[in-house]
Amino acid sequence: MLYGGRSGEHEISIASAAAVFANLDRDRYDPVALRIEKDGRWILADRPPTAASAAAVIAQMRNGERGRGGREVLMPARPGGDTLLRLARPGGDAQAPALMSGLGLDVIFPVLHGPYGEDGTVQGLFDLAGVAYVGCGVLASAAGMDKDVAKTLFQARGLRVTPWVVVRQHAWQAGRDQVIRTLSTTLTYPLFVKPANLGSSLGISKVSAPDALGEAIDLAAAFDPKIVVETGVPDAREIECAVLGNESPEASVPGEIAASGEFYDYESKYLSGASRETIPAHLTSEIAREVQRQALVAFDALEGTGLARVDFLLSSSGELFINEINTMPGFTTISMYSKLWAASGVDYPTLIDRLITLALERHAHQQQRRLSAF
Ligand SMILES: Nc1ncnc2c1ncn2[C@@H]1O[C@H](COP(=O)(O)OP(=O)(O)O)[C@@H](O)[C@H]1O
Ligand SMILES: [Mg+2]
Repeated sequence: MLYGGRSGEHEISIASAAAVFANLDRDRYDPVALRIEKDGRWILADRPPTAASAAAVIAQMRNGERGRGGREVLMPARPGGDTLLRLARPGGDAQAPALMSGLGLDVIFPVLHGPYGEDGTVQGLFDLAGVAYVGCGVLASAAGMDKDVAKTLFQARGLRVTPWVVVRQHAWQAGRDQVIRTLSTTLTYPLFVKPANLGSSLGISKVSAPDALGEAIDLAAAFDPKIVVETGVPDAREIECAVLGNESPEASVPGEIAASGEFYDYESKYLSGASRETIPAHLTSEIAREVQRQALVAFDALEGTGLARVDFLLSSSGELFINEINTMPGFTTISMYSKLWAASGVDYPTLIDRLITLALERHAHQQQRRLSAF
């Protein structure tokens, strides 16, 4: 179980990982807790993570309360029996690291969200190491993480997305006024300004007029040199659908989130506790089926495997827009992904089991791949 990570969703990941640990069938699995610190070091944790909720982890982190015990490990980027190498520093000399004994793992469950976790980077390392892992591969993870690339792929498959424009940091720095003019004539306010690659609403602003656009782009640019600016869907209902499977994926019943704030921002996602979920969402059977159909098209468009949560915006006039795909959605027992499956007849321990089975199946297929002519 790999969790934590360098992204701003480190705390959410710990909460998700704690839930997986608590619900893993110990007769079948012998889990190893592997924590990625915010500085990127991999630690074989002394104890598995425990957490009541993402809000509890965030509070503990802010108070500096969380235990950090464990030993540093490395994952070598080549196939072999040792998935991890324990890193020892002889005589405590930090300048003289030495590699010690290895540890083999059968499958990795990367409960990681955001950059360097959900974006294909860590999945690339698993591929190089020849180890099975839960969830999407490099392509789907990377494409799903980038809101511009994902929209392009969705659109190519006939799904409706809100009009959007990409702003590059260098173009922004070269001519702010020009960028603001272009955006204001191309798109319709209110606008949403987002870092192209992030999550948990970090760096996202809703902008109602051109004079607030500069500040919003500056904020997004601090998180990613690529910025997505898009037309807002007025009074949007937020509908989410969970997908599970490899070649024959299934879609859950759709659910709805009613954000407590101006939009579904970080605060209302994890801290205020005031957002309300309705599962299944109150939708006509026609729209519910359409949501499920589009969720599967989106999953297929990215060549998803394992799992994803596909999020939609439903306008007050009944137009359905696909907003984004999350290839490693929040995974606590009270996260939307798990609740959607619970409401669709798949309980949390079964969900973990299915995901691990899917990971091993995908890995077995990959292993059959021929890499050279002789
Ligand atoms: N085009 C839009 N119209 C209306 N609301 C939006 C739009 N884009 C984003 N939002 C709001 O902002 C939230 C976060 O945006 P999203 O693209 O889902 O980013 P993240 O990957 O951080 O979750 C959404 O859940 C929604 O509340
Ligand atoms: Mg979102």
